[in-house]
Amino acid sequence: MSDTNKTAKLTIGDENYDLPILSPSEGPDVLDIRKLYGQADIFTYDPGFTSTASCESAITYIDGEEGILLHRGYPIDQLAGKSHFLEVCYLLLYGELPTAAQLEDFESRVTNHTMVHEQMHRFFTGFRRDAHPMAVMVGVVGAMSAFYHDSTDIHDPWQREVASIRLIAKMPTIAAMAYKYNIGQPFVYPRNDLDYSSNFLRMCFSVPAEDYNVNPILSRAMDRIFTLHADHEQNASTSTVRLASSSGANPFACIAAGIACLWGPAHGGANQAALESLKEIGTPDRIPEFIARAKDKDDPFRLMGFGHRVYKNFDPRATVMKESADEVLDLLGIENNPILAVAKELEKQALDDPYFVDRKLFPNVDFYSGIILEAMGFPTSMFTPIFALSRTVGWVSQWKEMVEDPTMKIGRPRQLYTGAQARDYVDVEKR
Ligand code: SDX
Repeated sequence: MSDTNKTAKLTIGDENYDLPILSPSEGPDVLDIRKLYGQADIFTYDPGFTSTASCESAITYIDGEEGILLHRGYPIDQLAGKSHFLEVCYLLLYGELPTAAQLEDFESRVTNHTMVHEQMHRFFTGFRRDAHPMAVMVGVVGAMSAFYHDSTDIHDPWQREVASIRLIAKMPTIAAMAYKYNIGQPFVYPRNDLDYSSNFLRMCFSVPAEDYNVNPILSRAMDRIFTLHADHEQNASTSTVRLASSSGANPFACIAAGIACLWGPAHGGANQAALESLKEIGTPDRIPEFIARAKDKDDPFRLMGFGHRVYKNFDPRATVMKESADEVLDLLGIENNPILAVAKELEKQALDDPYFVDRKLFPNVDFYSGIILEAMGFPTSMFTPIFALSRTVGWVSQWKEMVEDPTMKIGRPRQLYTGAQARDYVDVEKR
């Protein structure tokens, strides 16, 4: 961020205030209001942060009008096509693409942290079998701070590094354990001779009763889904992680907070909700009925997987995901998938409808991902855990960037108070 030497002039009553304008490397300028309350005794008001930059970051950049998503400057379509998830993890964490030696070392460190403490297995038995896997992940990830005391001091660079690797490495194991517990099958330990995505698929789908060979088509598709969900600027769950971290809380507790926030259907829970909506629609002839419901202000129904706070043109991740859906279903020999047919027709009809076009509501990352995940054999309840698994590297990278910023302050928003003014207590007999 650099000072532009430009200022915005604000006049309040008879007073004039000069507010510095800061310029980014990409995107709109930023009005620096940090001293406004101290100078003018006035707050700004922006619930939902539609016009507010909450921090300075160098990790991810989104241009919502142009449908651009960059991770450390590299476009998401190039990373999805040419890179792989652990290389993207390295890029997000350390800022540059790794050399071959750096990548080999990083992958080795992640691989050798994939097991969880054996006593963590007991946490799962405390949950009902039908608990949503996201409920389990929130609990178990938070409990990691009860096991990995040697990586909870955020002021120790070595402990920050170890916590980062542990979270990225163990999240697939925990997500797979949540799934296995849910379906009543035994936990499957990770294997060090498998790559990250293949390991996750094997931990989810293998059983002790027979050999399991990872389908390379599925592991490639899984890896691409991980990459497409890795990070996304200051979305709700990342902002939750940052706010939790600003108090100095340990990284495992902060990531658990991020998982809790991601679970909401307006955010990461949309992939599960989107597929359930597509199944409820069932056939293309019912699409007009659901589009009408989505437009009806008296009906809470929304087209899940449509719309985005930032993307007002198209979500570049949805474009890649749609191509991948076609490819995976074709390679798996799933001809004429009725849900994919409904999704494509729904997208076509919605994008022809002024309601969606005027509000710039286009398919987002969650619209097509569920179709691929279901084709891979996952139940809808595992869709958001997979999003959480993927986004862990984004949360950790943003957490690391913030705690390493010497200007870090605890986040403490103010408010527009519209409650009762000061009044005296009234004894119950006088009420
Ligand atoms: C993710 O922030 C991120 O980066 C998130 C994410 C990430 O990677 O971290 O990209 C992941 O969360 C993607 C979004 C997944 N959520 C969904 O698909 C749920 C459905 N979408 C909506 O809930 C909504 O579009 C949001 C929450 C995504 C965005 O909401 P905004 O920006 O606050 O917009 P809004 O709710 O104010 O809606 C603007 C208008 C409203 O109509 P009007 O009041 O102007 O008449 O658009 C309408 C809304 O009613 N609208 C929809 C709609 N989304 C918005 N109408 C029907 N169906 C929808 N899906």
